[in-house]
Amino acid sequence: MDNSHFENEETVKEDLEEIKKVFNTDSILRENFTNSRVQKYYKYSSFAYSRYHSKEGSVHIALNYDGTYSPEGHYRQADEINDLIKENSKVLELGCGKGFNTSRLANKNKTSQFYGIDISDAQLNYARKTIKNTTNLSYFKRDFQNTEFDNDMFDIVFAIESVCYSEDLDGLIKEVNRIIKKGGKFIIYDAFRTPNLENRSNTIKESVSLCEKAMAVNSFFPVLDWIKTSESNGFEVTQNEDISLAVMPNLKKLYTSCKNFIKNKFKARIIYKIAPSDIIKTSISGIFMPHTIMQKTVSYNRIIMTKVAESK
Ligand SMILES: C[S@@+](CC[C@H](N)C(=O)[O-])C[C@H]1O[C@@H](n2cnc3c(N)ncnc32)[C@H](O)[C@@H]1O
Repeated sequence: MDNSHFENEETVKEDLEEIKKVFNTDSILRENFTNSRVQKYYKYSSFAYSRYHSKEGSVHIALNYDGTYSPEGHYRQADEINDLIKENSKVLELGCGKGFNTSRLANKNKTSQFYGIDISDAQLNYARKTIKNTTNLSYFKRDFQNTEFDNDMFDIVFAIESVCYSEDLDGLIKEVNRIIKKGGKFIIYDAFRTPNLENRSNTIKESVSLCEKAMAVNSFFPVLDWIKTSESNGFEVTQNEDISLAVMPNLKKLYTSCKNFIKNKFKARIIYKIAPSDIIKTSISGIFMPHTIMQKTVSYNRIIMTKVAESK
């Protein structure tokens, strides 16, 4: 399937109509996600991610810069971060999920110490099982809004598709500023709303909101809010790169399997009724994600910033 399939608003409309035949979209749009609700989402959807997304434990979208899906692309974010890690560093992942990124980095950087925090027991239990022989990696059940680490502890803090769950952006950035050393780096890979969304049709706005809510995110942050909030809290943003096209190969793969799932409406409605609804609802995000990227209402960015001062 070509990327241009997702550029046409008519195809968003058609997919929205299909989705409405299976799901109660009004109730999905009304949901508000707090930490405890996000924990529940990952408890139930953990199985679906392992079964349909990555058996190796990635809970993020693969980066395939050459335009063709390859599972190797799931390692790409960690490998790019790896290039920034110096000897004897202390590195923290916020929202480490099943430990896919931290375990790879810890194995590649034996002189450095790695930490992963997450609020989900389901994710952390999986992560802990995979690191029995890795001595330079520890996992903690902690909220990234209040990490409980010492001041100026880390050389690198990174977050892959997790800080979109933040309920308080300013508080989060202040907390990262507190625990990171001066000169240390904060690296984020995530989805963001673009300024284009404001002037788009209700269909497009609804597709973006459904995409977010179906993966337990209240609303992706506008990328400019991230930049401004970081810069007013002691960070200098050295890179903000839109790498949306690199996520399209994986998104198209997910789109095809989610469309297959809702093809038989009767069967899909029954499964939606009897299985934990969070697992099934994820297919709504699977269908709308490539649309949001090609409609340029959501972008996937790599942001790298350096701490230059304490936050006020
Ligand atoms: C999409 S997954 C990404 C996991 C991992 N970064 C990866 O790349 O595979 C998002 C993770 O963020 C975690 N998360 C959400 N809100 C959090 C919070 N307030 N504090 C810590 N972790 C959080 C979720 O539990 C989930 O494991």
